[in-house]
Amino acid sequence: MEGFFESAPLAEARDYERRMESYIDPESRPCFHLTPRAGWMNDPNGFSYYQGAYHLFYQYNPYATAWAAMHWGHAVSRDLLHWEYLPAALAPDEPYDDKSGCFSGSAIELPDGRQLLIYTGVGAGRRKPDGRMGDRQTQCLAIGDGVDYVKYEDNPVIGSENLAPGASIEHFRDPKIWQCEDGSYRCVVGATNAEGSGEILLFASDDAFSWRKLGVLAENNDRYGTMWECPDFFELDGKSVLLVSPQFMLPEGHEFYSGNGTLCIIGHVDEQTGKLVEESLHTIDNGIDFYATQTMLTPDGRRVMIAWMQNWDTITESPDAKGFKGWYGQMTLPRELSVQDGKLCQWPVREIEALRHDRVSYTDVPVEGKAALEGVSGRVIDMRVKVRAQDEADPYREFTLWFAQDERFHCSLRYRPKTGTLKINRIHAGSRRAYVHHRKCDIPGAPCTLDMRLIMDKNSVEVFINGGTQAMTMTIPTDLSADAITFFAEGKVVMDVEKYDLA
Ligand code: FRU
Repeated sequence: MEGFFESAPLAEARDYERRMESYIDPESRPCFHLTPRAGWMNDPNGFSYYQGAYHLFYQYNPYATAWAAMHWGHAVSRDLLHWEYLPAALAPDEPYDDKSGCFSGSAIELPDGRQLLIYTGVGAGRRKPDGRMGDRQTQCLAIGDGVDYVKYEDNPVIGSENLAPGASIEHFRDPKIWQCEDGSYRCVVGATNAEGSGEILLFASDDAFSWRKLGVLAENNDRYGTMWECPDFFELDGKSVLLVSPQFMLPEGHEFYSGNGTLCIIGHVDEQTGKLVEESLHTIDNGIDFYATQTMLTPDGRRVMIAWMQNWDTITESPDAKGFKGWYGQMTLPRELSVQDGKLCQWPVREIEALRHDRVSYTDVPVEGKAALEGVSGRVIDMRVKVRAQDEADPYREFTLWFAQDERFHCSLRYRPKTGTLKINRIHAGSRRAYVHHRKCDIPGAPCTLDMRLIMDKNSVEVFINGGTQAMTMTIPTDLSADAITFFAEGKVVMDVEKYDLA
């Protein structure tokens, strides 16, 4: 890459991750979910297609399995499932702009074939009343060839002067860029206004280098948490869709829980005001370990979303409690998105079907009490379970699916038609820490029918409910030897089960 110079912090990170990777047992990693090359991973960044390959960068601390000054890790894939590591892309090495971290951002291909990264640089801000120095977050660029990146000499390209008076210069981050049909560029950035409430700012540029503020696209107005992190904005199925990850949420029924959550707003943009008019909104994933979504458009036109398969509220498990693993954090499965009846629907990318083998299938299996099925077990599987009442006039009271199970441990999905709630639970999955271990969600529709597709990849499960109208994602601490799957019904249930092992 022309003008590329490997700074000392980047050279050190690249050298360290290469050496460290050789100590990590590849068997400790999932089969088709991306983990950090070494150390710590949080948000997906720069998820994009560039010169024949999918690129996925990530918030990265190669030196420890804990968050610290953020780098960008980097991997590429041809099928969104098998990832090959490339050297770390960015290190916090600019004394003014990003000394305290290269925070989340996104990527795009420039017309001249170079790859452009836009990220939040965290530099020195103002001194606080207690004497400590605060941060300043600004939006910066790096230009590269898919491996090496040069930080732009005129960084930052979107600075704090764009913020309204009283807005926090410490909470202005996570730019998501896209190109419009006329060739110009847009970008959304999360910010916090003078009242401490989140808002999403919209910027425009003709060349992706010099930016101007268009205005406020969406406002939290103190409803869903405080700061809205990791915004993403796109058109899908005739609607405008905004995805954000709010911090410090308050609970609301079974839809939103306290802590860090995710929020999807579906609507349209008012041409007069330039603001997103909300038509419907909901949580993106009703499970436990899910945060910081980012989407991309595949060459064949699919809108695909990925997220960090963790959450700031659930990272208290000591990653090396059972001996050295050397990495912590993983991405979700990439999911194809659609908008149906005011809801964001998610479905595993179709590429996963190529990994399926050894199909086992049962139809019309009556269940009353406990049941197990020959050949239905495993921890790296794609399984669909469809449940209904044996007699519509006689609704069942409960259906439970146990998985990652042995004599001592299990996880479960328990459904109760009367309340229409599905509960995901890992209380008995082997965790020795008291953090969030179960979540409920409300399932609308015909109360006695339930359709669940489970993708398990060793220490995780992603559940796609009723064709993907809802999803629940959870990591599983249990040893892989716990691979039994069993069923339980209180009342009379009939089920169809189709299961594949995944290579
Ligand atoms: C979200 C987040 C982002 C930030 C990054 C820092 O998980 O807090 O807002 O850019 O992580 O690692």
